Amino acid sequence: MSWFQPEPFQSLQMIHSLGISFNTPIIDIGGGASFLVDRLESTGYADITVLDISETALSEGKQRLANRRNLSWLHSDILSWKPERKYGLWHDRAVFHFLVDTADQGRYLETMFSSLSHGGFIIMATFAKDGPEYCSGLPVARYSKDELVDRLGSGFTLLEFKDEEHTTPSGGKQSFLWVAGRVNGG
Ligand SMILES: C[S@@+](CC[C@H](N)C(=O)[O-])C[C@H]1O[C@@H](n2cnc3c(N)ncnc32)[C@H](O)[C@@H]1O
Repeated sequence: MSWFQPEPFQSLQMIHSLGISFNTPIIDIGGGASFLVDRLESTGYADITVLDISETALSEGKQRLANRRNLSWLHSDILSWKPERKYGLWHDRAVFHFLVDTADQGRYLETMFSSLSHGGFIIMATFAKDGPEYCSGLPVARYSKDELVDRLGSGFTLLEFKDEEHTTPSGGKQSFLWVAGRVNGG
């Protein structure tokens, strides 16, 4: 677990512009400590799953949202997780870029595509080319829009992208790249 974004403005904006319906099953990868699940739940989204490798991150969200229905919490490493159902939106802010090994990236992408329903949506934010080289003491991969789209592969159709300068809790600046798109064939 490291930092999280208190107000997930960009995520909500893209979810809105993609027209994600309230009954779409949504999974937020690495979203344990994030407030995205809170915002989605209070907006009316009815089927939200949060997956995180950190028990601490997950337990914060679970405690905040205790007794809320239609929320699922999965404690797992995305690299070993085996999806047991399909999702209509895969959201990942600041997890994929921690995978610097090509084989790990491939495993992640295989899991992502296998868990998405036909025509499902993907929103992903990574560090941009001028973003930090390390985060929480770990090396990260940085992407241009074309590199990330290329890495997501031919199964992904880009619908929207955005550059964002994120201000960390300590006041530092981090350049993010956001892409939103759809699994081909939808
Ligand atoms: C930088 S934080 C981002 C949190 C949140 N997505 C946000 O934007 O506010 C990364 C999160 O991903 C989780 N994480 C890192 N590696 C992971 C992995 N291999 N599988 C699942 N979760 C992971 C961390 O525990 C942490 O909660």
